[in-house]
Amino acid sequence: MKKTDFGLIGLGVMGKSISLNIADNGFSISVYNRTEDGEAHVVKTFIEKNNTYHNIQGFTSLSEFVASIERPRKIMLMVKAGDAVGSVIEKLLPHLDKNDIIIDGGNSLYSDTIRRSKCLAYKNIYFVGCGISGGEEGARKGPSIMPGGSAKAYAHIAPILEKIAAKDKNNQACCTHIGPNGSGHFVKMIHNGIEYAEMQLLAEIYALLIVNHSNEDIAQILSDWHTRHEASYLLEITIAILRKKEDDTYIIDHILDKALSKGTGSWSSKAALELGIPATMISSAVFARYISTFKDQRVRFSKSIKKKNSLKRVNYKSLEYAYGFARIINHQQGFELIQHASKHYNWALNLSEIARIWTNGCIIRSKLMEDSIVILKGNSSYFDNKTVFERLHNSESDVTKILRHGMSNRVALDTFSSAYNYWVGATTGNSSANMIQALRDYFGAHRYQRNDKDSSEFFHTNWQ
Ligand code: 6PG
Repeated sequence: MKKTDFGLIGLGVMGKSISLNIADNGFSISVYNRTEDGEAHVVKTFIEKNNTYHNIQGFTSLSEFVASIERPRKIMLMVKAGDAVGSVIEKLLPHLDKNDIIIDGGNSLYSDTIRRSKCLAYKNIYFVGCGISGGEEGARKGPSIMPGGSAKAYAHIAPILEKIAAKDKNNQACCTHIGPNGSGHFVKMIHNGIEYAEMQLLAEIYALLIVNHSNEDIAQILSDWHTRHEASYLLEITIAILRKKEDDTYIIDHILDKALSKGTGSWSSKAALELGIPATMISSAVFARYISTFKDQRVRFSKSIKKKNSLKRVNYKSLEYAYGFARIINHQQGFELIQHASKHYNWALNLSEIARIWTNGCIIRSKLMEDSIVILKGNSSYFDNKTVFERLHNSESDVTKILRHGMSNRVALDTFSSAYNYWVGATTGNSSANMIQALRDYFGAHRYQRNDKDSSEFFHTNWQ
């Protein structure tokens, strides 16, 4: 039998969709799924359901699966991030040959990817940590793909990945060689971090409006925004969610207000803390989800709170501008984190190119992302762009108006307030950090620099 172009392990929702996407694009593919834990039928069912595809071969034997693929083999793992990835690699290894390529298409932690790449390099196996965004539909019709690994390995997989990826406005693939190992998963992790804050902003807008608007009214307001600067995939699906009914009632009204997460948001925050980058909006969004999970306590304590709902409606224009403001700050923080990781790990990442592959296929695709291709060309900060800076500056009073409205209506605005505080902090020449330094020196003799002396010198005062 003729060998196939590609192999894929893990026929979950994403694995199935990517396999069909690869097959639709004219490549032949071997698929394998584990047979334990009630999954014995998975491959058979998938092949039967897609029996019109003659370029897909299904296997329940790992050795037969590997043997069916053309060398150097390109094998994508679409298994749950974490231990499962390691255990599949272990099982796979005895069947592989020198220069074969394993591609991890899940949301693995980038430090795991770096470690796995190093181990596999000793065995002459290439490992590519590959972020894939777009959910089920993206995987099926064209995701945004973020592969990180050796350039040699990328050259082998590029023809397939670039073909199955979404296309940008210039018909270029939303897939690029991100950089060395670990960088692909790092960039995907920050994509998700930005996604967390974007979603939290939308949830806060919903919280501000639902006080005295119907779901349909809110959908209408957001649809209006969608025609301008703030157009995005997440805004579009928020509108659709607000309008979706089941048996004459809105589904959104029946969804329990506990936001779960799988880890990429908190990993982004951890990376920000480790690298010393103030990605405050991502952290706020993660913590807002955590607060939401304490549902029982929230309900219990809420009974002792007198809610004072003002009937005054929020100013829609101010809200739209504040939303635009906060989104720029969110993107600024996310890209700054990528920029610093790039320096720290010596990855030489191209921010503008990352923005480009995020303009289609992925969850955070938006008009702002399209603008970011230009904004980030040669710049690592949105603040260096004069037009963007003026826009932020001009929106300041709208943001404060929205924050005041939230406070007087007891609506928590975690990410909006983080955005505002970051902006003020990042544009304040003389901050109060001198007090922090004095306190540190007082109780711990940690020493401080002076503004009237050479800043390379450190001083201590005997405060008592
Ligand atoms: C994507 C999504 C995808 C997934 C997130 C959800 O880019 O396609 O980000 O990766 O939906 O992992 O993460 P949480 O479950 O943590 O919200």
